[in-house]
Amino acid sequence: MPLPHTVTIVEVGPRDGLQNEAHIIPTAIKIDFINQLSETGLRVIETTSFVSPKWIPQLADHVAVFQGITKKDNIAYPVLIPNLVGLQRAMVIGVKDIAVFTTPSEMFSQKNTHCSVAESLQRIKEITTVAKEQDIRIRGYLSCVLGCPYQGEILPEAVLEVAEQLIQLGCYEVSLGDTIGVGTKDSVKALLDVLIKKIPVDQLAVHFHDTYGRAIENIHLALTYGIHVIDSSVSGLGGCPYAKGATGNVATEKVLVLLQELGINTDVDIAKINKVSHFIRNFLKNQHDKTISPDK
Ligand code: HMG
Ligand code: MG
Repeated sequence: MPLPHTVTIVEVGPRDGLQNEAHIIPTAIKIDFINQLSETGLRVIETTSFVSPKWIPQLADHVAVFQGITKKDNIAYPVLIPNLVGLQRAMVIGVKDIAVFTTPSEMFSQKNTHCSVAESLQRIKEITTVAKEQDIRIRGYLSCVLGCPYQGEILPEAVLEVAEQLIQLGCYEVSLGDTIGVGTKDSVKALLDVLIKKIPVDQLAVHFHDTYGRAIENIHLALTYGIHVIDSSVSGLGGCPYAKGATGNVATEKVLVLLQELGINTDVDIAKINKVSHFIRNFLKNQHDKTISPDK
């Protein structure tokens, strides 16, 4: 299959990135960060999540962040939703794009959302039933598709089964999460060979964490299947606090360089992304330095 002409980057730094930071980042910094991202040419910026603040205190200011950012008409600002409670809170403030999440791994499901995979799909059904009535666009995530920190190997057929259910429930796209970055060329190929036979390529996206530095080669491989939606995070921020070994997402900067080398268009300005990357890295470094020597 020829490489895609155009790729959409789903910037997940403000959500997947900041959910994993050891320290709470001030709301104003998050808003500034997202506003700067909005000026780079990105078309999708995952903004925050409406999960329980008990589990992810880093994003407890989700309402203030979503309401505080300057939204542009040509950019989608999805938020992560775990259940109906989260959806209802998001709907009150006018959220129009959401992402739901589950996994083919029973053990990860328990760790991340305290329920079985079947129960998580039931929660997603409750969410999507309401969201569809309200014309809210729904993206789906599957975590641990190439391996689970608790369960080990995950079979492509198990991924396919849950991916098909997400689509049936109303997700316009399923993002395949290599949550702990264990994917290799062989395992990515084995997974995509199975999925691509049953799911249109336009409904698949990839979400690689870069734990072992293999994300870029895995993305390159996914492009050869025609996949043209890639999740990434400015500065390689990211991780899941409930997945041991989940380090940062693949850096948006690195993905843009790969795509530029391959002659694939994104409309995203690398120089502007580098500036935002510098801004957030600097902030996090200063915050870290102040914490280890509070007199500074
Ligand atoms: P729970 O505690 O297991 O059970 O939460 P619960 O439903 O009984 O709720 C307990 C308390 O939380 C109650 O409050 C609820 O009202 C409240 P209390 O009565 O004790 O005062 N609550 C909420 N509060 C605010 N917003 C809500 C909400 N829901 C319940 N939406 C739950 C279950 C799923 C909510 C919890 O386990 C949770 O929030 N988990 C989120 C975990 C998470 O965010 N993980 C990271 C995101 S996934 C990820 O990063 C992977 C991804 O990037 C792809 C990849 O890389 O693979 C997407
Ligand atoms: Mg992730």
